[in-house]
Amino acid sequence: MTDARLASLRAALPGLRLLTDPADLAHYGRDWTRRWTPAPLAIALPGSVEEVQAVVRWANAEGVALVPSGGRTGLSGGAVAANGELVVSLERMNRVLGFDPVDRSLSVQAGIPLQLAQEAARAHGLYYPVDFAARGSCTIGGNIATNAGGIRVVRYGNTRDWIAGLTFVTGSGEVLRLGRGLVKDSSGYDLRHLAIASEGTLGIVVEATLRLTDPPPPTRVMLLALPSFTALMQVFAAFRGRLQLQAFEFFTDVALKHVLAHGGQAPFDAVHPFYVVTEFASDDTSEAEALAAFEQCMGEGLASDGVIAASQAQAAQLWHLREGITESLAKYLPYKNDVSVRIAAMPAFLAEAQALLAREYPQFEVVWFGHIGDGNLHINILKPETAAQADFVADCERVTKLLAEVLQRHGGSISAEHGIGLVKKPYLWCTRSAAEIAAMRGIKAALDPNGVMNPGKLFD
Ligand code: FAD
Ligand code: MLT
Ligand code: ZN
Repeated sequence: MTDARLASLRAALPGLRLLTDPADLAHYGRDWTRRWTPAPLAIALPGSVEEVQAVVRWANAEGVALVPSGGRTGLSGGAVAANGELVVSLERMNRVLGFDPVDRSLSVQAGIPLQLAQEAARAHGLYYPVDFAARGSCTIGGNIATNAGGIRVVRYGNTRDWIAGLTFVTGSGEVLRLGRGLVKDSSGYDLRHLAIASEGTLGIVVEATLRLTDPPPPTRVMLLALPSFTALMQVFAAFRGRLQLQAFEFFTDVALKHVLAHGGQAPFDAVHPFYVVTEFASDDTSEAEALAAFEQCMGEGLASDGVIAASQAQAAQLWHLREGITESLAKYLPYKNDVSVRIAAMPAFLAEAQALLAREYPQFEVVWFGHIGDGNLHINILKPETAAQADFVADCERVTKLLAEVLQRHGGSISAEHGIGLVKKPYLWCTRSAAEIAAMRGIKAALDPNGVMNPGKLFD
C-alpha cells in the first residue's frame, strides 16, 4: 500500500525530492517535544510553489495526510508525523525573493530561517523585529503557522503584526495570494489571518511578505533580582512608566541554576528567587530613569539587586541567562505549559496558579520563566530521571486540566505562542468557546475539504 502511494507520487512528480531512509523519517518526523515516535510515510522536499501544489493535489487524490514542516523547533507537537503522513518540508524553499524599499517589505520563501530573514532586513538598513532563541533553526513558515511571539513582543507585537502578505496553498490545492502587501484593504474576510496560527491544518504557507521597520534605537540591558513573584508586575509597571521597553523577561532561581550548569557566570553574589532581564531604548535621560525606577523598586522592597551591562559582551551574557533556559532544560523532557492572561489579570492569576502548582507538584521540579511583559508565562515541569514518561505526562495532564480551569476563569489562553498542536489539544475549550471551535471546524472544511492537512493537530 505504502509503496503504491509513493510510486504514484513519483509518477505524478518525477522531479520531486523524496526521502524514505529510516534516519530521515526519524529526523523529520519529530519536533522539540520528543514525546511521539516518528513514523512518517516519507519526506517530500518540494522546490517550488507548483511542486507544493502538486503534492497537495496528489494527497487529496490518494487520501494521504500531510504534515507541513519548518525547522521542527515547535514545542507543541504540531510538526510531529507519527501516523504514516507525508512530511512536506519547506527546507529547500529558503530564499529571499525580493526587497521593496518603498513598501519597506521583504519577500521570502517560507522555509527561510528566521535569522536569515532578520539579516536580510538588516542588510537593507531595516529591521524585522520578531526574535527568539530558536532564530537559527525555526522558519518564517513555522513562525507564521504558530503566530510566534518571542522576546520583543512587548515592543513590537507578534508575527501576525508583521505579515503584509502570504502565498498559501490550501488543503484543496488552490494557490491563494493573501494580503498582497496592501496597507489598507477592507474587501471582506482577511484569509491571511486565518492562515496565521493555523498550525498547518488549513494549508501550506509557501511565501511571505514581511513588513520591516526602522532599526531599533541603541539600547541598554539590565538584570534585576526580585524577592517575590508578586513584585514582578509592580516592577514591570515602574519600568514601563519611565522607559521605552524593548523586552521585559523573567525567570526563577531554578531556571538560572539549570542555565549555569551548562556554563556561564552567576550574575550576583547571592541567589535570589526571581530575576528580570529588561532591555530599554537608551538616550540622554534613560540611564537616569532606569536608575530612578530601580531605586524606587529597591525602596519599596520590590527589587533586591541589579546590574546594567556596560558592554555588548555583558549584555549578551545577561541575555544568555534568559535565552539559554529552553536548551538547558531539554534533557529533562519537560512538560511545557505556555499560558497567557491579560496583563491586568496577571497578579490574581499568578496567585492562584502558584498555589495550585505548589499543591499539585510537590514531587516535580517546576521552572517558571517567560515573557511577563506580555502576560505570558512558561511553566516547565521536569521529568525525574526515574519516572516513566507516560506516567509523568499523565500526572502533568491531570494538573493542566486544573490549570485550564483557572485560566478560563481569568479569561486566559492555554497557548500564548507555541500553538495547540498535539500537546494542548485536550484544553482548547478553556480558551475557545464551543461556538468558536465549531466555526474553526467549518473553516477547516472549507479550505481542506478532504482533511489532508495535519489531521489530529489543534482539534480532532
Ligand atoms: P515547526 O516546528 O516545523 O512547525 C510548527 C507548526 O507549524 C507545525 O504545526 C507545522 O505543521 C506548521 N508549519 C511549519 N511550516 C509551515 C508552513 N510553511 N506552512 C504551514 N504550516 C507550517 N516560540 C515562540 O513563539 N516564542 C519563543 O520565544 C520561542 N522560543 C523558542 C526557543 C527555543 C530554544 C525553541 C526550541 C523553540 C522556541 N519557540 C518559541 C518555539 C518554536 O521555535 C516556534 O513555534 C517556531 O515558530 C516554530 O517554527 P518552525 O519552523 O520550527 O516550525
Ligand atoms: C522561550 O520563551 O524561551 C520559549 O518560548 C521556549 C520555551 O518555552 O521553552
Ligand atoms: Zn516563549
